[in-house]
Amino acid sequence: MIVKTAEFIISNTEVSKCPNDGLPEFAFIGRSNVGKSSLINMLTGKKNLAKTSGTPGKTQLINHFLINEKWYLVDLPGYGYAKSARSNRSKWEKFIAEFLSKRQTLQNTFVLLDARLEPQKIDLEFMSWCGERQLPFSMVFTKIDKLSSSALQKNLARYKKEMLKYWEEMPPVFTTSSESAFGKESLLQYIDKINV
Ligand code: GTP
Ligand code: MG
Repeated sequence: MIVKTAEFIISNTEVSKCPNDGLPEFAFIGRSNVGKSSLINMLTGKKNLAKTSGTPGKTQLINHFLINEKWYLVDLPGYGYAKSARSNRSKWEKFIAEFLSKRQTLQNTFVLLDARLEPQKIDLEFMSWCGERQLPFSMVFTKIDKLSSSALQKNLARYKKEMLKYWEEMPPVFTTSSESAFGKESLLQYIDKINV
């Protein structure tokens, strides 16, 4: 799939104010700083479309980007940001939970995982949460330019082992780098395939 146009539409914390034109949505979620916004920029080929930062907690709102005038990429705030106040965290949980469970137009959630880390409790819990609600998701490993391919294979195998303790089969798995654009075609193709 070729991304011809990508435009920012709206940011907000209220699910009721998200676009209601019925177009399909694909959400990006994961820990703060895992590379959600960078991945959206990489996929669209627009460096400054979504705001990125070396400091965790950059994205605080639900951001809708319209692609090819036909579907949305949705950039979500990260979870597990240690500096967030507890009250902020529960606010996060509330509006993200609402977004993920109520949007009928949400086709898939991409759960981003730092390829350098062994399986993290917070990510496994989040994927279980999706599973309990029967929300379709895929695993997207980020920043693969930052480790050797053998280290990557090792972490992928660890994740698989951990996931298969709870799941009968693996969800789709992607490996990506926003630096080198590795994984761009596979992800866009996958979106194209499941896009209705
Ligand atoms: P929040 O909005 O705070 O939740 O973070 P985020 O998940 O949107 O992360 P963001 O895209 O802002 O990236 C965080 C940092 O990681 C930035 O310094 C990026 O440049 C860096 N980064 C993201 N993706 C990659 C990647 O694939 N490779 C490398 N080397 N760095 C990356
Ligand atoms: Mg972000």
